[in-house]
Amino acid sequence: MAIQCDTLVHNVRIASMQVSGEPYGALYNKALVINDGVITAIADLTDTDTFETLKANAASVVDGNNQWLLPGFVDCHTHLVYGGNRAQEFEQRLQGATYLEIAERGGGIKGTVAKTRTANHATLLESAIKRAKRLCEEGVTTLEVKSGYGLDVDTEIRMLTVAKQLEQHLPLTVSTTYLGAHALPNEFDNDADAYIDFICNDVMPIVAEKQLANAVDVFCETIGFNTQQTEKVFQKAHELGLPIKAHVEQLSDSKGAVLASRYQALSVDHIEYLADSDIVHLAQNGTVAVLLPGAFYYLSEVQKPPVNALRAHNVPMAVATDFNPGSSPLASILTAINMACVQFQLTPEEALRGATIHGAAALGLHDRGVIDVERVADFTLWDIDTPAELAYCINGHRPTAIFKGGKHV
Ligand code: NIG
Ligand code: FE
Repeated sequence: MAIQCDTLVHNVRIASMQVSGEPYGALYNKALVINDGVITAIADLTDTDTFETLKANAASVVDGNNQWLLPGFVDCHTHLVYGGNRAQEFEQRLQGATYLEIAERGGGIKGTVAKTRTANHATLLESAIKRAKRLCEEGVTTLEVKSGYGLDVDTEIRMLTVAKQLEQHLPLTVSTTYLGAHALPNEFDNDADAYIDFICNDVMPIVAEKQLANAVDVFCETIGFNTQQTEKVFQKAHELGLPIKAHVEQLSDSKGAVLASRYQALSVDHIEYLADSDIVHLAQNGTVAVLLPGAFYYLSEVQKPPVNALRAHNVPMAVATDFNPGSSPLASILTAINMACVQFQLTPEEALRGATIHGAAALGLHDRGVIDVERVADFTLWDIDTPAELAYCINGHRPTAIFKGGKHV
């Protein structure tokens, strides 16, 4: 029986990231059968007849030269659409000013809000393409981008539109997140409740109606929004049928993670100050813990996320860049993977799963991040002896080939 096949990929060692008992879900002597951008079969090549039949039927055959094949990376937390940069603030922090102090003086996120509001569509798009391209070069094929540097209706919509447009310029799937509750804009000064009402009544319905965002996020923190304000946004998101994500426990234990998981959050992100006793709520609600070692590094944080307790509760841990102009100007998923190992003691396998299958879960995407049948054919090839090398060496590797939706890009 002839098997229909657009593309056949063989002679590869596959780090499938399936949960199989094998490290990295490794598969040997297998070939990927791809049709219409989807993996439709994983063929066993121990039988040479099967291989010859498949080859004869394939429109295109890719010989992987015995390289490692990994799922395309999923960077599930970025803020890479923004105006300006914050190099000056970086210098101030090196001279002793803290992230919190800078934020309280109206710098930080608010500084980027001012620059983003004055940047037009073309400027924002051009700079975002440059940043996203860096991630693509390392094998990122799915990218999340948050708004949150506009805070007014027009700029938030512009940010989300620009983010989605990245798909037209790069081989990427973009998942957008509305983060209106990122900071309090000057026009609402001292009235965070009024700003939250504005978000819920005037912005979120438009975002939902125009289908501009795949999820809604809140910065729940002393310098962000309190749990009551956060909950209002979550309630509105539920009403509009939008899934939620949350920046929580980044600088203090504000109890945002428990609240978010009660609303079945896809993920809670940062979580350095998450209490061990709160982790059971994540486990119960299927909430992914997103670790952001770039922000930990740049802010010289010393409090580490509770990795051992997350492991003990089998909470999936994702790893992402948090690429943003302030707390994490990090244009490298591979460096984030390395940092998750060095700073948070993840194993290379955990960190690589974090940037593939668990990153996808943090976006509610279950059709990617893993090499399996009925998953999108987003994958990369690497000239390495073991997948651990990708976590071990900084700036040592680039994929030798990237496939997006079954197409070599
Ligand atoms: O993920 N924590 C809040 N938001 C971003 C920082 C944004 C910024 O500093 O511009 C973060 O760290
Ligand atoms: Fe963030």
